[in-house]
Parts: sequence; C-alpha cells; structure tokens
Amino acid sequence: MNKNDELLNKRAQAKLGGGQVRIDKQHQQGKLTARERIEVLLDENSFQEIGALVSHRSKDFGLDKQQYPGDGVITGYGTIHGRTVYVFSQDFTVLGGSLSESHALKICKVMDMAMTNGAPVIGLNDSGGARIQEGVVSLAGYADIFYRNTRASGVIPQISVVMGPCAGGAVYSPALTDFIFMVEDTSYMFVTGPNVVKTVTHEEVSSEDLGGARTHAEKSGVNHFTAPNDVACLKQVRELITFMPQNYAEKPPKITDFQFSDKKLDYINSILPSNSNLPYDIRKVIDCVIDDDTFREVHADFAKNIVVGFARLDGRTIGIVANQPASMAGVLDIDSSRKGARFVRFCDSFNIPLLVVEDVPGFLPGTDQEWRGIITHGAKLLYAFSEATVPRITVITRKAYGGAFDVMNSKNIGADLNFAWPTAEIAVMGAKGAAEIIFKREISEAVDQEAKWKEKEAEYAELFSNPYRAAERGFVDEVILPSETRQKLIHGFKMLENKSQQLPSKKHGNIPL
Ligand code: HXC
Repeated sequence: MNKNDELLNKRAQAKLGGGQVRIDKQHQQGKLTARERIEVLLDENSFQEIGALVSHRSKDFGLDKQQYPGDGVITGYGTIHGRTVYVFSQDFTVLGGSLSESHALKICKVMDMAMTNGAPVIGLNDSGGARIQEGVVSLAGYADIFYRNTRASGVIPQISVVMGPCAGGAVYSPALTDFIFMVEDTSYMFVTGPNVVKTVTHEEVSSEDLGGARTHAEKSGVNHFTAPNDVACLKQVRELITFMPQNYAEKPPKITDFQFSDKKLDYINSILPSNSNLPYDIRKVIDCVIDDDTFREVHADFAKNIVVGFARLDGRTIGIVANQPASMAGVLDIDSSRKGARFVRFCDSFNIPLLVVEDVPGFLPGTDQEWRGIITHGAKLLYAFSEATVPRITVITRKAYGGAFDVMNSKNIGADLNFAWPTAEIAVMGAKGAAEIIFKREISEAVDQEAKWKEKEAEYAELFSNPYRAAERGFVDEVILPSETRQKLIHGFKMLENKSQQLPSKKHGNIPL
C-alpha cells in the first residue's frame, strides 16, 4: 500500500465509526449518525475535521482490542450561514459515544480554539456517559469540559444539542451552556436514571417521563427547544445562531432583506380586550411590532406566563421579554422569574438589546411560592435587568402593578426608554384591592357597602388606572398609540446603538442564585 492509500484507508476507517451494523441500528432508532448530523448542521462542504485519527490509550478490560479512529467523537469547525462555528458530535456507534480521556481532550481542543478565535461552540450529545472501563480518567475528562464551559460562559455562545442519552454527571456540560435543544422520543437527560430512582424512591418512571424532551421543556425548564427529529432540530440550531454575535465583543449581524406588513399597524389597535381583566396573547403584540415572521420563542413550553425570545426589528436582533396575560394573567412567579432572568443575562452577555412588553398584575401569592423562595427567585429577574448594560426599552400595554412594575425593566432600574399605551394601568395594586384597604372604614360604615366599595374603586381607578400619573413624574417617557410602537422602538434602539455603560469595578456580582 502506498503512503497516500494508507492515509485514505485510515480516513475511510474513521468515517465508519463503530461499523455498519451499529450505524444501521442508529438509523433504525430514527437517529442520524454523528457525521450525518454535522452535515445537516453546517453549510455544505464547510466542515473541517480535527483529530479524526485520535485513539484512546486504555488497555484495561480488552479496550486495547477495540480501537476506533476518532474515539467516539467527531470534532472540528465549519460555517453556518457563512460564519465560523466549532462543533463536536458524539458517535454513539463507537462504544456508545462514551467519554474517554482522549474523547474529552478532543472536545476540550475545539472549545479552546473557539475561545481563542471567538466563535460559538455547538455540542451534539449522544453518549452513554463516562467510559466505564477508563474509570476516574474519564471523570476527569468531564471535569475538564465543565471547567471550559464555565470559563467560556459569556465569552462565546455555547449550544448543546441532546440527540440521545445524556445521563449522570454528563448532563452538567449542557446545563452550563446557553441553550439546550432536545429531540422528542430519542433523547433524554437525567442525573440518575429510572433504575436508581426506583431503588431510592420506589417510583416507577420511564426514561422518557423522567428526562425526555417534553419533560424538560414543560416541567423542569432544562430544555429550551424541542424538535420532532434530528434534521428539524439541527435546522432550528442553524436558525437560532443567526440571531447571535460570534462573541461578547461583537454585535449580532444585521439583516437587510426584512419585511413588515403595514396591515399590522391597524391590527395592533384591536388586540387588547375592552375589559382589562380579560386575557389576550402578548405574542400578537410582539408580532405587530417586529419584522415579519422573525420571532423565535425560547423556552416556549416552560413558565408560559412569561414569553421570551429573539426577533428582528428593522433588521437588527433584539431580545424580547413579555408578560403573557393569556397564561395565569401574566403574573410573575418562581419559574417565570428564572426563565426571564436567564434570558436577560444571555442577551446582556452578547450585546443583544432588550425589549420588554409589560402587562403584569404582580407576583403570584401563596404558601407554595413563598416557601419555595419567590423572594430569591424574583430577585433574579430584578438583578438581571438592573445589571444589564445593553439598550433597554419597555412598552407597558396594560397592567404594571406593584413590585412587578419595578422589576419589569422600569426606568429606575436602568431602562433607557419607557413607553406606555393609553390603556396602561400603573399603580401599587389593582383598584379593587386598593379601595378595600385604604377605604376600609368608610366601606364598613356605609349602608350599602357594595355600592361604596364600587364608588371608591372607581375613584382609585380614575386616579391611577392610567399611564398619566407615571408620565407626569417621568417614570414613563411617552404615552404612545399602539400603532406608533414599532416606529418608536426603531428610533429608540437606533438612538441607543452606541450606548456604553460600565458596571462598577468588581470581581463579579453575587446574583441571588
Ligand atoms: C463504555 C459503553 C457505555 C459506557 C454504553 N457503552 N455505555 N461503553 N462506557 N458508559 C457501549 C455498550 O457496551 C455497547 O457496546 C454500546 O455502547 C451500545 O450500548 P447498548 O447498551 O447496547 O445501547 P442501548 O441499549 O441503546 O443503551 C444505551 C444506554 C446503555 C442506556 C446508554 O448503554 C447504558 O446504560 N450505558 C451505561 C450508562 C452509564 O451508566 N454510564 C455511566 C454514567 S456515570 P457494543 O460493543 O455492544 O456496541 C457518568 C458519570 C459522569 O457518566 C460524571 C461526570 C462528573
């Protein structure tokens, strides 16, 4: 065999991973192989592999006779819509995609390159966890990855795509990254699997119920995006990355070929119901102000009382945080505060301006919330907004009550511009509750208590259930018509384009975790 043929032979061997039988099994399960996934994720023919011939060094338990070039993970770089990204893709056909010392070193190498060169890292996870035959060496390999995930946080975007098993301590790498994608029916994540759960708590639960894509999208909030299959999932990743800059020192790319349908300027006036206690879908308001079809909701199935996601306004990426009156009246609770805070911090890390659309009746009362720490969790959202130095604009469509008014990007916690619609109600609390407290004696002494209460409620509403008190004091910069919102936001964010603000000198803040 000549030298060139020898190389081609080695390459062919690497391409085959764990062999055709195991590749067929992967396909039968509805999964793509590690290499096929990279092909779908990246621009055509852009993938450049690094470390295809790396092999493990272990000799125990017969591993020396099980050598597969690449050692169960394909690593390298390529482009998505022409921009560089680094990728690792675990190959389940090679020893179950298990993580050996060499496998971990390969992942660390691309992570280090991504940091040095300032480009996102995307990890495609499909692994049985630590390579059991290697013992502590593989545990140390995981720790090397966790350490890099943490150091890279806020420097470059990190995306984890879970496309098979991800169990035990292995889950902590995705957990440390910015966004997690999961594929329905074929992926799962848990710290301890169903067998251990059964032994310890006597609960019987399937892998899917314990840690499948839906479970983590709806119950735990671990999963940000759910896809029906591998291809759909990877296409979602391609789209998401278009909203982001390459690293913390850059701004997100600007798009020039966007559309905006003028019909939305009429429709936006009719979205709010005439009765301010009735629900409506805040996503309709969002849709009427942003460039057509550009909203990409994040965490859509978790804590639905707050809506977060990326969109484009006049071709520029913005991050949107909006109370959702169509779910629990848009109240703030533990989960929605956590969800909102995490998103705000991502946007602030990567120079993505924030738009807040506010319609919030307050924080959710109750022992459950108090005992589980709504104080600490609500403070996360307050902290995240207060700390954010990106351009920040708020639009109050309707309710802005109590502490929630302060928390939802009020001027006093650093918002740059606050607009309110004429329907805005900005007060300490709703008129009914306020009347009951401040006119308690008058109401109790009245002959017709119900009528008195109504009269006092109307009096309070007249004074405070509007945006003008707040506008008089400058807490609202301008009261605007709904149809003026898009233009006001475009002008506002353009004016704020070169905003530059530094936090006080410190090592790092202490967000209430
Ligand atoms: C070595 C492994 C492996 C592992 C799977 N394989 N997991 N080899 N180390 N962790 C191998 C199998 O021997 C098999 O080899 C091939 O991968 C496919 O595995 P199957 O069991 O046939 O596949 P499947 O039936 O689909 O089941 C997948 C699985 C199961 C559920 C992931 O393999 C499994 O339970 N694996 C062990 C999971 C585990 O306990 N990992 C350690 C977790 S602790 P052949 O040669 O037959 O193809 C951990 C700690 C991390 O990860 C700590 C970080 C701090």
